[in-house]
Amino acid sequence: MTESITITDNRTGNQLEIPIAHGGVSAAEWQKLLPGIWFYDPGLTTTAVCESTITFVDGENGVLRYRGYPIEELAEHSSYLEVAYLLLHGELPDAEQFDKWRHEVTMHTYIHENVRKRFLEGFHYDAHPMGMLVSAVAALSTFYLDAKDIFDLDLRAKQITRLIAKMPTLAAAAHRFSVGMPFVYPDNSLDFCANFLSMMWKVAEPRFDANPTLARALDILFILHADHEQNCSTTAMRVVGSSHADPYSCCAAACAALYGPRHGGANEEVIRMLTEIGSMDNVPAFVEEVKQGHGRLQGFGHRVYKNYDPRAKIIKRTADEVFAITGKNPLLDIALKLEDIALNDEYFTSRRLYPNVDFYSGLIYQAMGFPLEMFPVLFAIPRTSGWLAHWQELLDQDSKIVRPRQLFVGAEPRAYVPIDER
Ligand code: CMC
Repeated sequence: MTESITITDNRTGNQLEIPIAHGGVSAAEWQKLLPGIWFYDPGLTTTAVCESTITFVDGENGVLRYRGYPIEELAEHSSYLEVAYLLLHGELPDAEQFDKWRHEVTMHTYIHENVRKRFLEGFHYDAHPMGMLVSAVAALSTFYLDAKDIFDLDLRAKQITRLIAKMPTLAAAAHRFSVGMPFVYPDNSLDFCANFLSMMWKVAEPRFDANPTLARALDILFILHADHEQNCSTTAMRVVGSSHADPYSCCAAACAALYGPRHGGANEEVIRMLTEIGSMDNVPAFVEEVKQGHGRLQGFGHRVYKNYDPRAKIIKRTADEVFAITGKNPLLDIALKLEDIALNDEYFTSRRLYPNVDFYSGLIYQAMGFPLEMFPVLFAIPRTSGWLAHWQELLDQDSKIVRPRQLFVGAEPRAYVPIDER
């Protein structure tokens, strides 16, 4: 069988054969036959925007791998910092490389005092922490002017380390401000997640020692959220990165994309939905409403997964371990009943709508004490490593600036009419 397609321009009879490579065909080749004819693809649902070696997703079969390693194995045996290294470098670190990496990240957890005092504390008292994070990440570019030198590999690596290290500090600072609690400085004797939990919850104790099961559960959630190939926020990162903006500005754009309820805001919406349903008895009526087109089942459905999201399976297991410590989240029974009804209902099965990563993650975060507004922030912390891996890959590929075309469907040329004659 020839791995190619042949297209015919029926206007001219001209034909072109294009090879199929890695499951795609080159639009540049296609353009040779069709100059001035654009591919109409709103939402980029059928467009591969790049070649990538970072993350593999098989949505039909529910498979997710980072750099070839199955997500299930990474969630069981690895740590978020090790996964971040893997995403960025392509290989797992050896013991020496990992120690160096952990040391570097730990040494960059502090933020400039002005970021906190002048910038974060300048927000209105009820500012949403994700809005604060978007702005604070962008503001970092004004503190690290060398970040503009994106083709100096040492400087590039330094900004990457800074961003990964400072995200938990910014995230916790945004939370502490929004609840009127004093900022907690990083404790560099703690590991990545334990330090974040310390910055979130420490009050007057000399050292905050997080429950190790909860710290590990958070680490697993961070592993699961670290990357997911060309999702909305990673695409935002790549689009802004293609203009050669500095990594802080790119990450701020990615954070902004993650803020939306269709993306990183979905687990917050899940909790709101479950709270609104209120009791198991109300679940069938709620599902009927959704089927009538009134709203969506939050935490269900995915652009790529047309099967059970592999991350959701791992999260469901992690939830049991967390609830053994925190007590069961009272919304869990509603969630389980909702899942059970939806998985057996023709509306959802025919559209291949299954629980996604967000369906259970919010229940865990809530049981651990995180307010709803922090959920997208918790997503942004680990996804930063994925964004940066893609940004680095993009720069190494020397790719073009992203500049799509459009099909113009507006007005024909017309003459300007003065305001008093309209
Ligand atoms: N509840 C009810 N119906 C749904 C849902 C849902 N959650 N998702 C899709 N549908 C229906 C939709 O109405 C449409 O039906 P019809 O063909 O009759 O018009 C069909 O399924 C296809 O939907 P779509 O909007 O074309 O699918 P999409 O691939 O563009 O959207 C999605 C993907 C994730 C935005 C969507 O499934 C959704 O809004 N889900 C709820 C929000 C959510 O959980 N988001 C988290 C995604 S995973 C984490 C992340 O990537 O950040």
